[in-house]
Amino acid sequence: MKRLLMCEPKFFEVSYVINPWMEGSIGKVNKALAKQQWENLYNTLSKLASVSLIEPVAGLPDMVFTANAGLVQKRASPKKQFIASSFRYPERQGEEKYFEEYFSSQGYEVLHLQQGTVFEGAGDALFDTRGKLWMGSGFRSDPRAVKEIMAALGIQASVLELIDPRWYHLDTAFCPLPEGQLVAYEKAFSEKSVEALKQAFGNNIIWVSEPDARNFACNAVSVDQTVILPKVSAEMKAALAQRDFEVIETDVSEFLKAGGACKCLTLEI
Ligand code: ARG
Repeated sequence: MKRLLMCEPKFFEVSYVINPWMEGSIGKVNKALAKQQWENLYNTLSKLASVSLIEPVAGLPDMVFTANAGLVQKRASPKKQFIASSFRYPERQGEEKYFEEYFSSQGYEVLHLQQGTVFEGAGDALFDTRGKLWMGSGFRSDPRAVKEIMAALGIQASVLELIDPRWYHLDTAFCPLPEGQLVAYEKAFSEKSVEALKQAFGNNIIWVSEPDARNFACNAVSVDQTVILPKVSAEMKAALAQRDFEVIETDVSEFLKAGGACKCLTLEI
């Protein structure tokens, strides 16, 4: 069974601006609605996966976005490995020690990249279902993180260049699905990276429209043939259904104000 880590939005709000979605959103989160939306997502995911929780910490509003805690290598043995994030912005750096404490208390081997290498975890590092690691760079994680992670985990990884600040983490524009399928937003990537995606995924790519991308359609969680995502267009749902995916839409409007959606609110552990 898939295992996910989430963090209740007890202290979630938009109180600073570190991505374009947060601009104009300071103080605008409806906290009761955010709680309700998070619970809906939690309840949906709990039926499909085993969801663990990390205790939220006051003053760290973005800690709900557990995708950024680090990257888990489940295939490692004897212990699972956790590569701890080292955030670009001071506003999120306070989260690092809580995530590290959590993973070491759970028996993971905690690894660190070199001092000064920015890395924002599974937000910028996603395994496709064939086990290849894709890493995003351009706004948050440092390109140096790729080499260091390949060396630390002994695996191959490819870098995708993000070129639009609205799609600042790889998981805002790229979502690998089972059987080599992919959901992605073309304009988020450099030409070279679009070519690399076409090479690797060919006809298995569902390219989303700009309105869907703005609604974080790429920020989906998949469990087997079920895809859990924010509100998307009928076209996108049809494209997924055509490929035999069951779609569950769950409104996360309050989290979009901080620049995150369903996938950002989870970390595969
Ligand atoms: N406000 C958060 C930030 O800018 C949102 C993070 C969303 N997480 C993600 N994996 N895309 O860091």
